[in-house]
Amino acid sequence: MIRLDHVSKSFDGKKILGDFSISVNKGEFLTVIGRSGCGKTTMLKSMNGLHWPDSGKVFVEGRELTQSNVIEIRRTIGYVIQNRGLFPHMTVEKNITYVPVISGKKNKAENRELALKLLKTVGLDEDSLLRYPSELSGGQQQRVGIARALASDPKIMLMDEPFGALDEITRQAMQDEIMKLHQKLGITIVFITHDIREAMKLGDRILVMDQGKILQLDKPEVIQKHPTHPFVKELIGAGSREQL
Ligand SMILES: Nc1ncnc2c1ncn2[C@@H]1O[C@H](COP(=O)(O)OP(=O)(O)OP(=O)(O)O)[C@@H](O)[C@H]1O
Ligand SMILES: [Mg+2]
Repeated sequence: MIRLDHVSKSFDGKKILGDFSISVNKGEFLTVIGRSGCGKTTMLKSMNGLHWPDSGKVFVEGRELTQSNVIEIRRTIGYVIQNRGLFPHMTVEKNITYVPVISGKKNKAENRELALKLLKTVGLDEDSLLRYPSELSGGQQQRVGIARALASDPKIMLMDEPFGALDEITRQAMQDEIMKLHQKLGITIVFITHDIREAMKLGDRILVMDQGKILQLDKPEVIQKHPTHPFVKELIGAGSREQL
C-alpha cells in the first residue's frame, strides 16, 4: 500500500533518514516508535509528499510519488497530527469538509450530510457541527481531526502522535475507537506514538526506529518476547513507565 524504497533525507547536512526502506501492507495497522528526533515524522511526511526524499522512491498503491501527482495522491490520504491540526477560524463542519471542498465538492447539503455522518462515525454529537475548535475539549478536537481525515474516504491514514496530548482515560477511549474504525473501514494506518503500550495495543506490526534507521519491525508479541536490540529491550522495560 505504501512503500519507501531506499529513501534518504538530510536537513542542513545532517542525515535524518538513511537508506530507509519499508513496505506497509494493505489494511495493516503499523505503529512507529523511537526517540524524539529519530526521524519518525520525517518518514511519515515522506509517505504523503510533505517531505521530498533526497534520494530513493516512494510508492503509494503502486504509484511512484512525483511532483505532478503528489497533490492528487495526498488528498486521498488522511493525515492526523497532535493538537493545532484544526483550522481555528473554521467551524467543525468547515474543518471536516475542507478537503472535499478544495477538491471541488461544493454542494452544501451533501457536505453537511457528510459532516454529520462523520461526526457520528467518530462519536460526536450533531450539535458540535457549528462550533469552533476552541469550544471543544482536547478529545473532541482530536475526534474532529479524525473525522476531517476520513472526509475524503481515504484508504490510508497517517497519524502523528494523534493522542499524545490527551489524558489517559480519553486516550484509551480513542485507542478503542481507532481500532474499531480500522476494522470497520479496512484502512491502512501508520501511527506514530511515544507510548510503547499504545504501540503494542494498536499495531499489527511495530516499527522501532533509531537515528533514521529501522531497529526492529515485527509483530507486538515478537517485539515483546524477542527484542533484537538493547534499545528495544529498554523500550519494553519502559512499558510500565508509560513514556519514553
Ligand atoms: N523542515 C525541517 N528543517 C530542518 N530540520 C528538520 C526539519 N524537519 C525535521 N528536522 C530535523 O530532523 C530531525 C528529525 O525530526 P523528526 O521530526 O522526523 O523527528 P521525530 O522522530 O518525529 O521526533 P519527535 O518524536 O520529537 O516528534 C530533527 O533533528 C529535526 O530537527
Ligand atoms: Mg515527530
